[in-house]
Amino acid sequence: MTTARSVSEFSTGLRSDRPSVAIVGAGVVGLGIGWRLAAAGCRVEIFDKGEAGRGASHAAAGMLAAGVEVEPGEEGQLPLNRHSQDLWPGFAEELQAASGIDVELRTEGTLVVALNADDVARLRFNFDLQKSLGLGHEWLTGAEVKRREPYLHAGTAAAILSPRDHQVDNRKVALALRTAFERAGGRLHEHVPVEEILVEGGRAAGVLAAGGEAHRADVTVLAAGAWSRTVPGLPDDARPPVRPVKGQMAALRMDPREPLLRHVVWTPGVYLVPRRDGRLVIGATVEERGFDTDLTAGGVMSLLEGAWRALPGVEELPIDELWVGFRPGSRDDAPILGPSALDGLVLATGHHRNGILLTPVTADAVSDHILTGRTADVIRPFGIDRFVKRAAPGRPQSGKEPR
Ligand code: GLY
Repeated sequence: MTTARSVSEFSTGLRSDRPSVAIVGAGVVGLGIGWRLAAAGCRVEIFDKGEAGRGASHAAAGMLAAGVEVEPGEEGQLPLNRHSQDLWPGFAEELQAASGIDVELRTEGTLVVALNADDVARLRFNFDLQKSLGLGHEWLTGAEVKRREPYLHAGTAAAILSPRDHQVDNRKVALALRTAFERAGGRLHEHVPVEEILVEGGRAAGVLAAGGEAHRADVTVLAAGAWSRTVPGLPDDARPPVRPVKGQMAALRMDPREPLLRHVVWTPGVYLVPRRDGRLVIGATVEERGFDTDLTAGGVMSLLEGAWRALPGVEELPIDELWVGFRPGSRDDAPILGPSALDGLVLATGHHRNGILLTPVTADAVSDHILTGRTADVIRPFGIDRFVKRAAPGRPQSGKEPR
C-alpha cells in the first residue's frame, strides 16, 4: 500500500528544488544528517525500530578522542577524525542555538596514564607514534600528572596529555539533535521498524515501514548503526559489511562539587569520563558476541577493577548504572560513508568507536553529497567500494558482495 503524504504535514520551509529523503536509523548519525537536510528545505522522514537516540548514541561515552584512539595501522582515518574534532566546537554551538540544549562540551583534554614500568614502556611507544603523526601530545611525569589529577593512584608513573581530545555528553547530543531535527520540520517515526528498503526501477525509492506503509523518497539513507546489515531489501553489493561489537559500561556517582577527576583518563584496560553532574562513566569491554545484551560478572569486574587501579577512591562511590551497547564495526573498523552500488541509496554507518566524534563531519559531508552530488575529499576514502572484491587480471569476477 502506498500512502501519499501531503507536503503541509512537514516543515513550512520545504523547497521544491530539494530531494525528499528517508533515513533508516535515528541515532546521532541519522538525526545529524536529517537535521542538516531538513534545515536546507528537504522533506525528511527518519525511521527507527526503537526510541530515537537509544542505541549506540545512548551507550557511548562521548569522547572526542581523535588523538588517543589512533592505533598503528589505522592512521588513514586520522584526517577524517581530526577534521570532525575541529568541527565540534562550532557544531555544539549551532546545535545549542537550534535546540536550546547544551551538550556539555568539556575541554580539559585526555590523559593516558601509566601505572607501572610496563605501562610506561607501552606509553613511550605510543607517544613516539603520536609524535610522528604531529598530534601535539605532551609527555607528563608522574608528579605533573598528580598535580593535574590528585586523586589518581599515588604510584602513577607518567602520562600522555592529549590536549585536543575533549568530550561531550552523548545523551544530550542525541536529545539536542532530535529537537533540532523536529524544529527544522523533520518527521520522526519511532518504534517503526523498516520492513524493507524499496527498490524500484533499479534504484532505492524509500522504505516500506512496519504495517506495510510505503514512504517514497528521492534518496534513502542507511544509518542504522550495528543493525545496518540486517535491514531487508538491499541487493548484496549495497549491504554494508557491519557487525555489532559489544561493549559493557558502568557509571558511578561522584560528588559534583568535588569530583575525583576532571580530565578524561585512559588507563590500561579502561577509560574514565567525568561528567559535570558527577557521573563517572567507565568503559568499555570490546566483545565479538553479536547482539548479546547480557552484562557479565567478568565484564563489570574488569571495568571496576581497572577504574579502581587508577583511581582508588572509586571504591566508595555508588553505582549509578550498568549497560551494554553495540558499536557498528566495519571490516576495517573505519566508517562507510557516501554513495552505494544502488542508485539513490546513501550509506552512513560503521562508525565503530568514533560515532560521536564523527557526527559533525558525517552530518555535513553526507547531507552535502545528497544536496549537491559531490563527495567531499575528506570522506572519499571511506566509500563502500573499498570492500568490493576485485577480479584478478584476466579472470572473471565471481561475486560483487562487499567482503
Ligand atoms: N570510543 C569508546 C568505545 O568505543 O568504547
